[in-house]
Amino acid sequence: MTLIAQISDTHIRLPGQLIEGKVDTFAYLSTCIARINALPQPPSLLVASGDLADSGSTDEYRRIKSALDRLTMPYCVMPGNHDLRAPMREIFGATPALPASESGHLQYAIDLPELRILCLDTLDEGKEGGWLCIDRLDWLHDELAASSKPALIFLHHPPFDCGIPGMDAVKLGNPDALAGVLAEHDHVIGLSCGHVHRSVFTQWAGLPACICPSPAHQIHLDTNNDAPLSWTLEAGGFLLHRIENGVLTTHVVNGPAPVATKYD
Ligand SMILES: [Fe+2]
Repeated sequence: MTLIAQISDTHIRLPGQLIEGKVDTFAYLSTCIARINALPQPPSLLVASGDLADSGSTDEYRRIKSALDRLTMPYCVMPGNHDLRAPMREIFGATPALPASESGHLQYAIDLPELRILCLDTLDEGKEGGWLCIDRLDWLHDELAASSKPALIFLHHPPFDCGIPGMDAVKLGNPDALAGVLAEHDHVIGLSCGHVHRSVFTQWAGLPACICPSPAHQIHLDTNNDAPLSWTLEAGGFLLHRIENGVLTTHVVNGPAPVATKYD
């Protein structure tokens, strides 16, 4: 059995710079990290699935690294649309958090005893929506062909609609291309994304697929066609993926840590 923790959309800024003047994303991340470190059974790995920084400055990555380095388990980082590759590489590139990749993209595989983690780089710098170019799709195909071990895929931009129109407009721009690669392999056990700042579960390309909430601000759940995007401070959190015998089970862990009381 393997546990993988996932955080997403931490949007770290410099001290004193609050989102909308009120959301201290660093404080939310710190609480989340303390809660992950206190899990009764430690995850083997934590995946931070993009929008680590809010503006993509080197100093923001330095700040988020200072928080992530408090984790008691290994972690890895991936880019989202708020991130920039060069400063991410500058801060994380010489560490195990960002394994080297041959292309200029920040995507890589991590081998664990019973599964492979494949982290995709869907960043299309300067755009809110995501994209997987032919180089990144070919890399995924080659990695899936290289091992028949169960594979769990992480990508920032969901390839599926979640029903919130403003977010669906900026999802992965070429989901059919990704589905085409996955159709050639039968050992992918699921996909998990970020970007939407909400917990969402669906089935896509015949696979379980989900979206990780932000530890801080969430996107308001409004599925009306003309709904403008807005934020809420309903409880955020993280995901805990449990993989056993190639089967993925995902838990949502929201809000501040409650006190666990023994059930009599
Ligand atoms: Fe985000």
